[in-house]
Amino acid sequence: MMDRRVFIIVLDSMGIGQAPDAALFSDEGSDTLGAIRDHENFYCPVLKSMGLFNIEGVGGGTAAPTASFARLREKSMGKDTTIGHWEIAGLVSPEPLPTYPEGFPDEVIREFEEKTGRKVLCNKPYSGTDVIRDYGKQHVETGDLIVYTSADSVFQIAAHEDVVPVPELYRICETAREILKGKHGVGRVIARPFTGEWPYVRTANRHDFSLYPPANTMLDLLSASGFETLSVGKIYDIFAGKGVSEMNRIRNNHEGMLKTLEMADRDFCGLCFVNLVDFDMLYGHRNDVAGYAKAMTEFDRDLEMLLPKLRDDDLLIITADHGCDPGTPSTDHSRECVPMLLYGKHVKAGIDLGIRDTYADISASVLSYFGVSQGNTAGTEFLSDTLSLAGKLPENAPDDETLMRIAKEMRSRSYAPYSRFTVGAALLTAEGKVYTGCNIENATYTPTVCAERTAFFKAVSEGERHFAKIAIAGGREGEDGDFCAPCGVCRQVMAEFCDPDFILLLGKPGDVKEYRLSEVLPFMFTGESL
Ligand code: THU
Repeated sequence: MMDRRVFIIVLDSMGIGQAPDAALFSDEGSDTLGAIRDHENFYCPVLKSMGLFNIEGVGGGTAAPTASFARLREKSMGKDTTIGHWEIAGLVSPEPLPTYPEGFPDEVIREFEEKTGRKVLCNKPYSGTDVIRDYGKQHVETGDLIVYTSADSVFQIAAHEDVVPVPELYRICETAREILKGKHGVGRVIARPFTGEWPYVRTANRHDFSLYPPANTMLDLLSASGFETLSVGKIYDIFAGKGVSEMNRIRNNHEGMLKTLEMADRDFCGLCFVNLVDFDMLYGHRNDVAGYAKAMTEFDRDLEMLLPKLRDDDLLIITADHGCDPGTPSTDHSRECVPMLLYGKHVKAGIDLGIRDTYADISASVLSYFGVSQGNTAGTEFLSDTLSLAGKLPENAPDDETLMRIAKEMRSRSYAPYSRFTVGAALLTAEGKVYTGCNIENATYTPTVCAERTAFFKAVSEGERHFAKIAIAGGREGEDGDFCAPCGVCRQVMAEFCDPDFILLLGKPGDVKEYRLSEVLPFMFTGESL
């Protein structure tokens, strides 16, 4: 359990085609990947080999994809970066974040002016480069702040670094963040400093002040369970630091991938959550098809370097938070489905995990991989449909004969004064650890627990969730015994915690027969049935 790592890379705005409710967002026909995939700058053999084009509705897939894949719909009522990432992390937002196509209302601006002691210029949706060209001089002369928004839920404040020093601008943003809560809880307050002479240039000191997530996400649940939650790029800001154990800032996609490669070389246990924002910020919003295509090609090259660094127990998930089709007249985000590629040594190649209702299935899967309960977070895990932990056991894991010998030895611990039928079990976890059990009877008979369940409950109560095999040995007391098939209740317990490939070793040392759980319990009733 302790060396598991999950890497999630969010290709910001890399949608794969309109969502079923795209019309509600005036985004019918939007398809970000569709807009760039045929451009000459686009060459992504690694993503292709993983199965990006095998995802339903994408088209042009490879014959033997190496990853499992799915098409994810967004359940939240938004197409914003914040809401998209929150949903990936298990938090669905039924209401969109507020937007201000007419500018911010008087009550907000008045309070902002009072608390900052500076007047406001502009106050409408504007392009970030145009706004400093059109209002920059007035700002420099008066010290008034340029406040503008976009189609996103953002309150942006532009100021010249010589007029409002960067630390002061950040304090002003914090003041705005305090004001913009509840009804006016915009996704982000953004500091947009600029410098130089007219027409001015923006500096790299942009800083986002995000809305605090209104509920726990997988990040909180993971960190509360002692797992590391490393963030690369915008992730820290998007979650306002909530549940994030480490922040790593980056200046562009390539730096983000270099940082991710660095993480892959590091020993940690937990999640590394990466956002690559160039796709959205530099190309999607600017309708730059050629640039977007080239950025994908560059990402694909970096991805090729990451794959060999992944360790046996690592999972890699590649996804997106919304679309931003550079091929449509709109320069705003688009309501699209996003890709989900799941890759790792334990992940079965080429499993189509279908069209899924929420990005939160990622969160549910990550939590299940770490054996952490979902709590109030949303989503349905998909790992059990594709993870094959059996057969990928560590080299020092006991072999089948040894496991059966342990099971047989466990019969001597059996407490079976009533039936005089003794059973022993040896349960092997995916990490190669053995949990043993024997049957324990009771004078009133019904509280009797079988050997298999004893082993399972010991393991589960120690935090184990991933199992490879169980050896079972049983028979009449004093007799060597032979084949002891598990009872129906134990099979049902196995169905709860194991995938259908889970192996049962039945028989005795020297004569061990192997069965799959799916063979001994067809038509399983599981949590999925509910
Ligand atoms: N028993 C087990 O421990 N495992 C099985 O798979 C079958 C039955 C135990 C329960 C009870 O103590 C005794 O065997 C007789 O049913």
